[in-house]
Amino acid sequence: MHKPDFKEARTMDKRNYETKKFELDEKYRNYFKGKTYFLKTYGCQMNEHDSENIEAILKELGFMQEEDYKKADLILLNTCSIRENAHNKAYGMLGRCKHLKEERPELMVGLCGCMAQEEVVVNSILEKFPWMNFVVGTHNFNEIPNLLVKSLSDGLQVEVYSRERDLIEEMPTERQSKFKAYVNIIYGCDKFCTYCIVPYTRGRQRSRKKEDILEEIKSLIKEGYKEVTLLGQNVNAYGKDLYEDYSFGELLEDVAQLKIPRIRFVTSHPWDFTDHMVDVIAKYDNIMPSIHLPVQSGSNKILKLMGRRYTQESYLELVKKLKEKIPNLALSTDIIVGFPKEEEEDFIKTMDIVDACKYDNAFTFMYSIRHGTPAEKIKEQVPDEVKEERLQRLNERVNFYFLENNKALVGKTLKVLVEGKSLKQDNAYYGYSETNKLVNFTGENIQLGEIVDVEITEAKTWSLDGQRK
Ligand code: SAH
Ligand code: SF4
Ligand code: F3S
Repeated sequence: MHKPDFKEARTMDKRNYETKKFELDEKYRNYFKGKTYFLKTYGCQMNEHDSENIEAILKELGFMQEEDYKKADLILLNTCSIRENAHNKAYGMLGRCKHLKEERPELMVGLCGCMAQEEVVVNSILEKFPWMNFVVGTHNFNEIPNLLVKSLSDGLQVEVYSRERDLIEEMPTERQSKFKAYVNIIYGCDKFCTYCIVPYTRGRQRSRKKEDILEEIKSLIKEGYKEVTLLGQNVNAYGKDLYEDYSFGELLEDVAQLKIPRIRFVTSHPWDFTDHMVDVIAKYDNIMPSIHLPVQSGSNKILKLMGRRYTQESYLELVKKLKEKIPNLALSTDIIVGFPKEEEEDFIKTMDIVDACKYDNAFTFMYSIRHGTPAEKIKEQVPDEVKEERLQRLNERVNFYFLENNKALVGKTLKVLVEGKSLKQDNAYYGYSETNKLVNFTGENIQLGEIVDVEITEAKTWSLDGQRK
C-alpha cells in the first residue's frame, strides 16, 4: 500500500522522472472480456482527458461501456478535489455503490483522480469502503490493470504516490469527439495559490517533450481532427522545466505551423503571459481568439493573500494588450468570492474588474476551504450567507455582459465547427465559434466536423442562434 502525504507533495526538488512508453502487460489483454464498465468523471479538462486514456485502457482489458451504472460490472470514479461539493458528489456515488455491492457482491469499484491524492480521503475509504477494489492516484493510473486484477484475489489496493512518477507516453486514448481533441502539454502546477489543492493532487510542473506533443498533433491531423486544445494547469509555464530557450510561445507557433484549423489552450496564468505569446496568438489565424484568463479577484489585498503574483493593474494592462493585438478576442475567466478576509470593498473591486473586462464567459465560485492549503489557516473566514449573496450579485453582473457581448454579434457571420445535430428538429445543428461560443443554427447539406459560416440571428446569455449562409 502507498498512501499520499501532502508534506511530500509540497516539496519542490528537481525533475526526478523519466519518460516511458505505455505498455499493457499482454496477460491482461481481454482479461475482462464480456464485462462492462461505467466511468464517471468529475472536474476539469485534465480529468476528462485522463478518462479518455482510462477508457481506452479498460477496453484493452476487454471491458465494454455501460451507460447505466446500476448494471455495470466495474464502476470507476475519476474524482476532483477542487471544492467541497466535488467531494460530496463522489462520496454520494460511493454510497450508492455500497448498496449495489450488497446486492451484487461481484461488483468491482475503483477510485482514481485528484481525491485519491488526499490522505484524508484515502483514510476514510479504508474505514468506510474497505470492500472497494482499488484507489489509484493521478501519477500512476496506468497501473489500473494490475491493481484491478490483484484486487480480485487480495482485496483493496491503494497505490497513491505523492510525487510525480514517470511521464507515460503513447497511452491509448478513446477520444470523446472525432473533431476536437485534448492534448496534454504540461502536467502539475508549481504556483501554489493559497486556496488551491491542485499542486498537491497533480504534483510539480512537468512538460511533455515538444517532439511528443507535435507528433501527437500530426497524427490527430491525419485522423481528421479539426481542433486541438493544449492542456495544462498553467500552459504558460510550458518548457520551463525542460528547455533553456523553448517556451509556450515557441510551442504555440510550432503547433500553428502544422496547419490544424483550430488551436485552443487552457489555462493561462496572468502572471507569466509574455509579450511573445501575445504576438504569436495575434499572428496565426488558426490560434483561436479566445483566452481563458482567470482573475480570481479584483482586489489587490485578496490577490496578495491568494498568492496570485499579479495586481488588478497588471491584469488590466495585460487584458488591454490582448484586446489591442487580437481582433475579436473573447475573454473568459474564473472568479472566487468569499476568500478569507474578503470585505465588501474587496468584492466591489471584483465587480469593477468585471465591468472593465466585460467577460464573454466566467466561472464563478464560492471559496471552499481545502484541507492542507495555507488559506485554510486564515482565521477570518467569510460566512456562507455572505458568500452566497456575493455570488448572486456577481452572477447577475457577469450574465449581463455575456448577453451584451452576444447581442453585438447579431447580424454578423461567424465560423462554426459543426459538432452535432439537433435530435428534435431537422436541419438543425450546433457547434462552436472561433470565440468558443455555442451556436445553434439551421442549414442544409451540412456534415459534422465541417467549419461553416453562420449568420447570427438571435443572442441569448449562453448561446447564439443563427442560419448557415
Ligand atoms: N490552473 C487554473 C485553475 C484550475 S482550478 C488557474 O490557475 O487559473 C479552476 C478554478 O477553480 C480556479 O481558477 C479557481 O477559480 C477555482 N478554485 C480553485 N480552488 C478553489 C477553492 N478552494 N474554492 C473555490 N474555488 C476554487
Ligand atoms: Fe491552482 Fe493556482 Fe495552480 Fe491554478 S495556478 S492550478 S489556481 S495553484
Ligand atoms: Fe479537480 Fe483535479 Fe482538475 S482537483 S479541477 S480534477 S486537476
